[in-house]
Amino acid sequence: MVQKSTNITSVEHRVPRDVRWKANGHRGGILWFTGLSGSGKTTLAFELEKRLFDRGFQVYVLDGDNIRHGLSADLGFSPADRQENIRRIGEVAALFAGAGNITISAFISPYREDRRQARRAADDIFHEIYLNADVETCEKRDPKGLYKKARRGEIPDFTGISAPYEAPENPELIVDTRSRSVEQCVNDILGYVEQNFVPAKGR
Ligand SMILES: Nc1ncnc2c1ncn2[C@@H]1O[C@H](COP(=O)(O)OP(=O)(O)O)[C@@H](O)[C@H]1O
Ligand SMILES: [Mg+2]
Repeated sequence: MVQKSTNITSVEHRVPRDVRWKANGHRGGILWFTGLSGSGKTTLAFELEKRLFDRGFQVYVLDGDNIRHGLSADLGFSPADRQENIRRIGEVAALFAGAGNITISAFISPYREDRRQARRAADDIFHEIYLNADVETCEKRDPKGLYKKARRGEIPDFTGISAPYEAPENPELIVDTRSRSVEQCVNDILGYVEQNFVPAKGR
């Protein structure tokens, strides 16, 4: 990405992030979900948001379709547009996380390089979570009827059918959404959050 703006200077916040985290009782950061359409990103993201919120966490979901209605309304599904979509989301997620939220992003984000770029935008508070379910499983679920449409040739560049999905090589967490229930998967991720976002008492 070529930066067009010139004569700009970054300004330091006067609330350091550890002070913000202490006030919130937990760290801020990004839970970056990635997985095929139908792998469970939306289902798990919103369930997790509710469960964490009820426990007093600052938490907010950025979800695929909601963002495509607004921030990325001008983008389609070509590789270049997907890249720009994920770049914007990566930057927005980093801002939300900087504000102290546990930010759950729920996008297919099929390209490794794009996820790497999102990680760079957030640095050490980026957690890649791979929702692992194979195409056959996702196609059987087909919650939005998209696979059916894609098979009929009505959706070009459909991930897993006519566009690639590059599985993560070193995700922080892999959640097997094929053979485990929604409840089990949410509990797995809650455990991960307890481990990585909540400081031990007295620390
Ligand atoms: N372990 C699981 N985790 C998430 N979703 C699951 C799981 N098992 C079955 N499902 C079902 O799979 C579908 C996932 O759809 P959705 O959350 O919209 O996927 P995505 O947002 O990744 O496209 C839902 O119908 C959900 O009920
Ligand atoms: Mg979804």
